[in-house]
Amino acid sequence: MAKASSSFVCQNCGAAFNRWQGKCEACGEWNTLVEEAGDSAVPVSIRAKRRGRTFKLESLAGKSNDAPRLPSGMAELDRVTGGGFVRGSVLLVGGDPGIGKSTLLTQATSLMAKAGHRTVYISGEEAIAQVRLRAERLGLAAAPVELAAETSVEDIIATLSEGATPKLIVIDSIQTMWTDTVESAPGTVTQVRASAQALIRFAKKSGAAIILVGHVTKDGQIAGPRVVEHMVDAVLSFEGEGSQQFRILRSVKNRFGPTDEIGVFEMTGLGLREVSNPSELFLSERDLGSPGTAVFAGIEGTRPVLVELQALVAPSTLGTPRRAVVGWDSARLSMVLAVLEAHCGVKLSGYDVYFNVAGGLRINEPAADLAAAAALVSSLANSPLPTDAVYFGEISLSGAVRPVAQTPARLKEAAKLGFGRAVLPEQTRGDAPSDAGLSLQSVGGLTSLVADIA
Ligand code: TYD
Ligand code: MG
Repeated sequence: MAKASSSFVCQNCGAAFNRWQGKCEACGEWNTLVEEAGDSAVPVSIRAKRRGRTFKLESLAGKSNDAPRLPSGMAELDRVTGGGFVRGSVLLVGGDPGIGKSTLLTQATSLMAKAGHRTVYISGEEAIAQVRLRAERLGLAAAPVELAAETSVEDIIATLSEGATPKLIVIDSIQTMWTDTVESAPGTVTQVRASAQALIRFAKKSGAAIILVGHVTKDGQIAGPRVVEHMVDAVLSFEGEGSQQFRILRSVKNRFGPTDEIGVFEMTGLGLREVSNPSELFLSERDLGSPGTAVFAGIEGTRPVLVELQALVAPSTLGTPRRAVVGWDSARLSMVLAVLEAHCGVKLSGYDVYFNVAGGLRINEPAADLAAAAALVSSLANSPLPTDAVYFGEISLSGAVRPVAQTPARLKEAAKLGFGRAVLPEQTRGDAPSDAGLSLQSVGGLTSLVADIA
């Protein structure tokens, strides 16, 4: 019989090697390779003998009688999943420890249970008493959620196969689960992958929707949930700065819905509160009239979001000036700085530049370029921007301000929040509705914006 071969698996990315080495060649992390037993549960000699079973092929056109989605009752969560949980699907919720994953899912399962759906919460990390304590704090102790503190995937599947199939099962967390079919220790990539596989199979067979919780760890000691990402139907990431109350749920991958939606929550003493109007929240602590701040009219998924961009440009004493960015792409900042320097005569090479997106939001839209440039120039010139203005537009390497999509939605949100004017690309001016309720100032090139501010 063939000897069960072991391999060295990177605990960060899941790449396998046949000998130990200090650095994972796949992801570049150091000291992440751990020896794990091979995960082939069925010996090759048996596998080879099994003949294929024939099955019926279906036509693409045809009726699918799958139940529609199951809304959680939390509008912000449903927005990110694309309208609720899909029957038989598996969703991974990842995030730093302590960010509020268990809180979010306790709230979601309680709401669904109260609506009459059978929901099960399996905690592999906390004892039942702890889970109950949290529910009590949240005022949800009376919800008919079924609880267990278990870690064996076989036991969980055997238990849940009996009786009515649960509509939703939460596994908190996938890193604590283990299955008999592989020999490695719980928490290793092989275990996480095999456990996830078994649970995914159960979800497809039974029709229950399963949510796997995954901790993201930077040191690579515990298997990152990354290895599970490509196996599941959707990946949501729960983000936020530890020191701030805002939490953002972002969809990273979604087989059944959009991937650019965000859900916004606020962590309070009574759990997570949904924030249905994020612009108000992100602008709530605005420092009116100080130089270096500009309001960006952005779009997150289908929803317009206004957010304050803050820049500080200060003379540098260093040979290589500092560039520090929070909430935006640092390469994008470098590009905007280079364009300002090359085409607008704004000399920034002797200055440190600090850039921040207020409220802990992360911006990925190129449309933020114009607002970022306005904040930078305003800080350098020590001249505040008009407090009632919003900015949006992409900047090209030539210094032109390029058009962006969804102008009407951006303007509508700005008008709704009491802004009086919008600075926007010349070519999108035509998209603006005549009753926008704002005065529009179009710019064709960055030079004219700089001339206006300085
Ligand atoms: P938790 O959901 O346990 O985080 P995770 O499962 O992602 O590790 O939340 C932990 C943090 O949330 C903890 O620091 C306390 C805070 N919290 C509140 O501020 N209010 C609450 O009502 C609850 C339940 C937790
Ligand atoms: Mg937890």
